[in-house]
Amino acid sequence: MRRKIVAGNWKMNGSQGLVEDLVGYVRSQVSSLDNGVEAVIIPPALYVRDVQSLAGEQVAVGVQNVARWEAGAYTGEVSAAMARDCGCRYSLVGHSERRQLFGETDAVVAEKVVQLLSQDLIAIVCVGETLAEREAGQAQEVVAAQVKKGLAGVSGSAWRNIVVAYEPVWAIGTGKTATADDAQTMHRSIRDVLEALGAPADEISLLYGGSVKADNAAALFAGPDVDGGLIGGASLVAKDFMSICQAMPADAES
Ligand code: PGA
Repeated sequence: MRRKIVAGNWKMNGSQGLVEDLVGYVRSQVSSLDNGVEAVIIPPALYVRDVQSLAGEQVAVGVQNVARWEAGAYTGEVSAAMARDCGCRYSLVGHSERRQLFGETDAVVAEKVVQLLSQDLIAIVCVGETLAEREAGQAQEVVAAQVKKGLAGVSGSAWRNIVVAYEPVWAIGTGKTATADDAQTMHRSIRDVLEALGAPADEISLLYGGSVKADNAAALFAGPDVDGGLIGGASLVAKDFMSICQAMPADAES
């Protein structure tokens, strides 16, 4: 059975003060999470150790990015092995901001996925179309290509460490969300692509991301192929993040 996951991507936001507030609130509320969801906190790498005390059965910690190399003279980079050494279970890969601002291609995404899998970390591989691509009717094709190329190095039991996050680029940080139907349709199509790649598609968690908030999460999570969310802005507000975690239906197949 696939995991239900709500991951909070802080991006380049946060401070020691925010960490203290968030850790305190999440700790006080986590026992009320009774829907089987795993909350994944993904702060900037410098704060990973500061949120680590939350890690347990219902909460995990992740990084936003890792290097595509194993180790060595790569100033400014953080390796998958370091993320694991510091207690992370997850890493984002190929977030649209990395693709757009840092030139991360599908080939780079694939290399990073391989690094993560070599450390037995779970890769949350982000895919999504731009507005122009959606308007041109190419959304499914673009997303399918990102899934295929980004996961080119995955086989066998490594699939259990793959999560795919569908984040339409036009919905990130804009307040616009895909409709619940659009999200479900794209998730179904991603599952079909995974199946065609020989993956155990029904076992792979698919997250929706892009302006998910406390008041729209339940509707977006209702689709049978939507196994959770990747949350940006709203994950910085502890109460909102926990409400979103709570919005995942307990009785979903996923
Ligand atoms: P948002 O970001 O929730 O602020 O739209 C989502 C993301 O980029 O992961």
